[in-house]
Amino acid sequence: MTDDSRFILDPATSDLHADNDRLRRAGPLVPVTAEGVPVWAATRYATLLAVLTHPDMSRDIRFWDAAARAAAPSGTAIDRIVTDTSMLNAEGEEHRRLRQPLTAAFSPRRLKALRPRIEQLTAELIDRLAGFPPDQPVDMRKEFAYPLPRDVISYMIGIPDAHQERLHELTDAVAQIGGGPDDSPELRHDLHVLLGQIIEERRGTPGEDLITDLIELRERDGGRLSNDELFATIELLFIAGHVTTVNLITNAIGALVNAPDQVKLLTSGECPFSAAVEETLRWDSPIAYFPMRYARRDVEVEGVALRAGEPVLACFASAGRDPEQYGESAHVYDLTRQPVNHLSFGHGPHFCLGAPLARLEAEVALSALFAAFPQIAPAAAPEELAPLNTLLGNSTRTMPVLLGP
Ligand code: HEM
Repeated sequence: MTDDSRFILDPATSDLHADNDRLRRAGPLVPVTAEGVPVWAATRYATLLAVLTHPDMSRDIRFWDAAARAAAPSGTAIDRIVTDTSMLNAEGEEHRRLRQPLTAAFSPRRLKALRPRIEQLTAELIDRLAGFPPDQPVDMRKEFAYPLPRDVISYMIGIPDAHQERLHELTDAVAQIGGGPDDSPELRHDLHVLLGQIIEERRGTPGEDLITDLIELRERDGGRLSNDELFATIELLFIAGHVTTVNLITNAIGALVNAPDQVKLLTSGECPFSAAVEETLRWDSPIAYFPMRYARRDVEVEGVALRAGEPVLACFASAGRDPEQYGESAHVYDLTRQPVNHLSFGHGPHFCLGAPLARLEAEVALSALFAAFPQIAPAAAPEELAPLNTLLGNSTRTMPVLLGP
């Protein structure tokens, strides 16, 4: 990688999809600067897939060139992710050891059992929405997309009622994960401390939740999961299980209220709501740029020579708009597209653990919303909405709509 004439990825000031169009045309792997860090950007679908499945591309930060790693600015989204000690950054046997205890919690059987709870939480939010005057703009990110995944993951993890309010305050403030103005290290620290306290309390009062499952596993199968690992796992689930799904539901509402012909396909039953979920994941991936992979050795990927230790950034939102994969209509939101086959949940051993949960939440939320408010309409044009100021998330800060009669 050379340092001259690098493209700078700056979600705060530029148009994500326009940047991505430009980068895809520039080559399979393009040298860019993201949050001050020089990385290769994998923006094409085929290249991203090749990187995610390449045996010489590792998630293990120890493969990142030490000097480059030391020079990375602290406090950035990249810094937070690479210093995470959860399964996200583990490899091989270590990765399996950390991920395996959680797979049962996301099994089809457990999710089926969870569905009524998600429906009930959704119905409560819809009831609240019905209280707004029909001609007053309502921010769907704040009032609907945001609280649902938070309440679902709090329930699964087992956050006691006594802590809900404080947890809400903290998550409200850190919801702009990945560099929003409110995402301060202090608030993150407070969230960290609170989750630690909740885990400690759960030791004395077991329940039917993930914290209890992991504590029991640790006690039954001593040493299999250290205390720090248990903590990192719960924190990862809480954060990964929340903001991404908020973006998915927000982006789906934004896409649909601006495409009444597509809504008709849903309400007439021609397309299932799951089609809207999948097409939104492709068209407006909740994650713009996410974790890096590091070259274990000098290696060639899609004809580009990488040196050992160089990092590659996964560009999910870009892969979803790649005309090589989706043809001329890549930029069109089309619920009849089949198959969608997006990479927005990743691919391979790190494939998103929570994907079935995110899909279920979004499907329940969207079908209930469009059934309750068939006249729902945008209260602002898409180009008027400010994007999230983060490298990770791809969404807008607000999603104002008129709910209608
Ligand atoms: C991993 C996306 C929702 C938990 C990932 C990865 C992606 C992703 C792209 C792979 C990272 C990589 O390859 O390195 C998303 C999106 C979501 C979503 C777009 C919502 C629309 C959730 C939910 C949960 C969750 C609801 C849990 C409740 C995880 C975990 C991992 C992960 C634990 C790490 C898996 C591993 O490293 O083995 N997610 N996610 N995610 N996700 Fe999600």
